[in-house]
Amino acid sequence: MTAPVGFCSETRPDSCGVVLFGATGDLAARRIIPALAGLCGKGLAPRNFYALFVGRTPLDRPAFEARLAAAAAGAGGRCARALLARARYLRADYDSPAFYRELSAALDALDAEHGVEKKRLFYLATPPSAFEPIALRLKDAGLLSEPGGGAHWSRIIIEKPYGSSLESACALDSGLKKAVPESQIYRIDHFTGKETVQNILALRAANPLFEETWNARFLDHVQITVFEELGVEGRASFFERMGLARDMMSHILQLAAVTAMDLPEGFRDSQFKEQKRRFFASVPKPGPGEAAGFVRGQYAGYAGEPGVAQGSTTETFLAFRLLVENDRWRGVPFYIRAGKKAGRKRTRIDLAYKKPSSGAFSGTDAGYSNVFTLNIQPREDLSLSMVTKHPGPKQCFTPRAMNLAYREHAEEAGAPDDYERLLLEAMAGDQTLFLGDFEMKFLWDYLSPVLKAWEAPGAPLHLYPDGSAGPAAADALLERDGRRWF
Ligand code: BG6
Repeated sequence: MTAPVGFCSETRPDSCGVVLFGATGDLAARRIIPALAGLCGKGLAPRNFYALFVGRTPLDRPAFEARLAAAAAGAGGRCARALLARARYLRADYDSPAFYRELSAALDALDAEHGVEKKRLFYLATPPSAFEPIALRLKDAGLLSEPGGGAHWSRIIIEKPYGSSLESACALDSGLKKAVPESQIYRIDHFTGKETVQNILALRAANPLFEETWNARFLDHVQITVFEELGVEGRASFFERMGLARDMMSHILQLAAVTAMDLPEGFRDSQFKEQKRRFFASVPKPGPGEAAGFVRGQYAGYAGEPGVAQGSTTETFLAFRLLVENDRWRGVPFYIRAGKKAGRKRTRIDLAYKKPSSGAFSGTDAGYSNVFTLNIQPREDLSLSMVTKHPGPKQCFTPRAMNLAYREHAEEAGAPDDYERLLLEAMAGDQTLFLGDFEMKFLWDYLSPVLKAWEAPGAPLHLYPDGSAGPAAADALLERDGRRWF
């Protein structure tokens, strides 16, 4: 295996207890429990560690074990058993002060049992409306205090949706901050925990070939595609309230940010966040005309999904053009599309270099010679297309591509996945990969005019066949600029 070169840093999680609120819910089962099991089974969790699962459903130990084992099955039986050995369940009544006293006593007992000293990560996998009341009750019970010196700590992890509008998001944020300051709030966007997303910054920082050409002088445009094969899969009631834009915009913006932000001096917290802040500050929010140009699509079979309202205009597809007003990117549009039931799953970023302006190839209309593609998932590779001479007696051109698989060795496959990685970062007290309050605010500032435009009577909703790459209107978005999707 090739050894790492140069700068190398490691996340060292502190000994701690994870307290998972909403432990019997969907998010816990799909993402958080498998991640906790993965950390325990892969030996990545701290040596002194426990998990306290908290939910409204009454569960005795055998019922709890069965649920946990089922949720953790994807991580493998060994991982599930490793987590079970450190897991407890506590039935909750989130509104009752008595429950928080019980919780506090349970945590003290678990601390003593596992050699943890009041270091607690409260993961609120609950509906957002419960964030503030739970946080305030935790505070009242003395569970969120952080005496100086860092010997004891408490952190709150929350997940999107951070509200459903600018107003509700701001209210959510100020409500939460009545209980804890920003330094104790960890807002997850799991895309930031993906290896291949982090690799974008590494690639740029370490390879002048890319970073020196990563700008308006060399690039023609950028495309970001976030397609999923699945539809709403039993989440129709959630989706009917949210729609794809609210559900996926945070992920999209994170991909745009790591692609387009200026490189920080270091990859850790404040410098990183500062560059991200500057990037978002350079993205103008869409005016009414531009907002109306955002393409809203719906897969044809959506109307027939159980739980979907008759005549629903909820979008399952979105395409738009994002502009960045700074010296690096002015004049380089970012075309973005995301959708459910949009063909096979693929998340990728394509950077199209300008076409040759002189020489024998310049007069031809053979598309872009150089496209640098970063496949984020499920394929994890990089490819650079180029045009070479076609082998043979004639002087002809032929397009070729260089491919680089991101993970080449079995050992690399054992690296933490997105949720595992983010849990480790939170246990280490590093907020770099978590969203700052300014990002949440930007998201809603950016999205609000679009949502408003879509509410207007007669705003177009473009149907697309299930499994296709979205409606024709998404193609037209690029065709107007003389371009097409890759
Ligand atoms: C979630 C969305 O945040 O991300 C889902 O709520 C979506 O609707 C999922 O399917 C996609 O994440 P991933 O990691 O599977 O690409």
